[in-house]
Amino acid sequence: MSVEPRRVENLQTDKGSVPVYTTAVVEQPWSSYSAGDHATWATLFRRQREILKGRASREFIDNQERFGMTPEAIPRFDELNEVLARATGWQLIGVEGLLPELTFFDHLAHRRFPVTWWIRKPEQIDYIAEPDLFHDLFGHVPLLLNPVFADYMQAYGCGGVKAHGISADALTNLTRLYWYTVEFGLIREDAGLRIYGSGIVSSKGESIHCLESPAPNRIGFDLARIMRTRYRIDSYQKSYFVIDSFEQLIEATLPDFTPLYAQLAAQASIPAGDIVEGEKVYQRGTGEGWAVEGDV
Ligand SMILES: [Fe+2]
Repeated sequence: MSVEPRRVENLQTDKGSVPVYTTAVVEQPWSSYSAGDHATWATLFRRQREILKGRASREFIDNQERFGMTPEAIPRFDELNEVLARATGWQLIGVEGLLPELTFFDHLAHRRFPVTWWIRKPEQIDYIAEPDLFHDLFGHVPLLLNPVFADYMQAYGCGGVKAHGISADALTNLTRLYWYTVEFGLIREDAGLRIYGSGIVSSKGESIHCLESPAPNRIGFDLARIMRTRYRIDSYQKSYFVIDSFEQLIEATLPDFTPLYAQLAAQASIPAGDIVEGEKVYQRGTGEGWAVEGDV
């Protein structure tokens, strides 16, 4: 018998009815995964690994292998945690779903990464709006083995706790940074542009689109610019930002953002598909298929 995630309530928002989950940390109910759950993992794992050959960053693939992730079965958090503890001191914790912002930041600030324990249903193989086990585990966890990226994630959590105490605008700025790096980031490697963002590596369509489509912009990483840039939650991104190395991320995020937030408050936000004069552009997108409305 499979266990269902505990939804506390549903919240009516401008994006429809959104489930609200308990913030409790839960033990991964590994023995309750059905054969179907393991089969969903296997299907997604095989498919994405095939697509990600030559597309995902070297570090992402290598680290999945270091963890021993395979299509055979849904990995056990406690086994992954042994590898993680030795490498970077991070720890995976099981959760029911999306957490309130401050709770999420606080976990990251303490090197705890919340992983949704349940996996999508077979009919959701190609798309699910909320993060599930496949997105969180396959997509986010591998890079936590990289010491520099691991430090960046913690710095981001600390920054989040701080921004929460500053203003809603500061939080918006910081959320855009997470979106365009942790979720949708590209990295320049010797062989060419590669994916490291979790939102991309866990999506079949976007893994190809972000690198090969002429539609989106591909732009060099710039912290302040990213913090001003709106994004898409209902379609592929109009713009992707390219880092040169993970060091670049941690260096950009070491300084205190407080003066930067004050500066950004005086500037207009940038639409998701715009190019800013003078910035490094790897590709100027054709904009094909872009919705005019709906940048958030
Ligand atoms: Fe995510």
